[in-house]
Amino acid sequence: MTSNELEATARSLVAPGKGILAADESLGTIEKRFKAINIPSTEDNRRAYREMLFTPAGLSQFISGVILFDETIRQKAADGTPLTEVLRRQGIIPGIKVDKGAKPMAGFPGEKITEGLDGLRARFEEYYKLGARFGKWRAVITIGPNIPTLACLEANAHALARYAALCQEAGLVPIVEPEVLMDGDHTIERCAEVTELTQHLVFEQLYRQRVAFEGMLLKPNMVISGKDCPQQASTQQVAEATIRCLRRTVPPAVPGIVFLSGGQGDVQATKNLDAINRLGPHPWQISFSYGRALQDAALKTWAGDPRKVPAAQKALSHRAKCNSAAQSGKYSDQLEASSD
Ligand code: 13P
Repeated sequence: MTSNELEATARSLVAPGKGILAADESLGTIEKRFKAINIPSTEDNRRAYREMLFTPAGLSQFISGVILFDETIRQKAADGTPLTEVLRRQGIIPGIKVDKGAKPMAGFPGEKITEGLDGLRARFEEYYKLGARFGKWRAVITIGPNIPTLACLEANAHALARYAALCQEAGLVPIVEPEVLMDGDHTIERCAEVTELTQHLVFEQLYRQRVAFEGMLLKPNMVISGKDCPQQASTQQVAEATIRCLRRTVPPAVPGIVFLSGGQGDVQATKNLDAINRLGPHPWQISFSYGRALQDAALKTWAGDPRKVPAAQKALSHRAKCNSAAQSGKYSDQLEASSD
């Protein structure tokens, strides 16, 4: 794969009106999600759930790619078709989460470092053969008293760049995800300060480690008030602070920025994306790579009942359509209230 092909894949992931469905929950996370709807996290339930998510009619109008978990990239639909093939037939690009999770960082209480670099070159080779054309690695940055430390930010930025270089070498587009968590009572200003520093350090490492900016995507948090902050910033304030930060840190050579939802409500995540795009035009395509904000309504509707698949798929399509509109700053209350 040449750098032109990487750039073409990156650009198709952020094609106008399209975004990414993150369905790469690890075994622990999906178990937590299933517990909330009272179903056991068996391999077959996980397959049935993911098959439901990947097969609403017309999904590819709004969704360019899906991030898969290691188990899912090997699973087959009920009719025996590999799930990657189910996606590819619709023109949806399969992607793969390759990190092995954020673990406590030795010597730095309350902070995390993402693991998974060992053996990654060989894993990428296999994932490419299995059909993945992009990867994802998530770093987790926590805001608290005296944290994050520079040591934690630098270690995570270094690992993100090591991953991104290996990802491009294997012919996959790296999605680089440094997530500053919204847990805590910090203000939006504090989130802005930490997000800006994080992204500066990440791009410095990407540059030093010779990652081609044209063949990658950034998956950041929005600049937003901490969940428990008494003074919650408005949608407009979130949009302005987020764009200010991105303009200071992300080179225009990067084709696209795809936000995580990070615990925002699903409608809130759509409204914020819409407000961000209304501030455009921007030097990059700005879209979504949501997990919870795309899946929550569908998960609750499905609740493990095969008879609820059509209604759950409708719920997912609706959220995908609303976020697609927000990708071009054309989301509205009427669209939200509409039944399609
Ligand atoms: P959320 O949108 O639920 O934050 O998930 C996105 C994701 O892929 C986190 O790594």
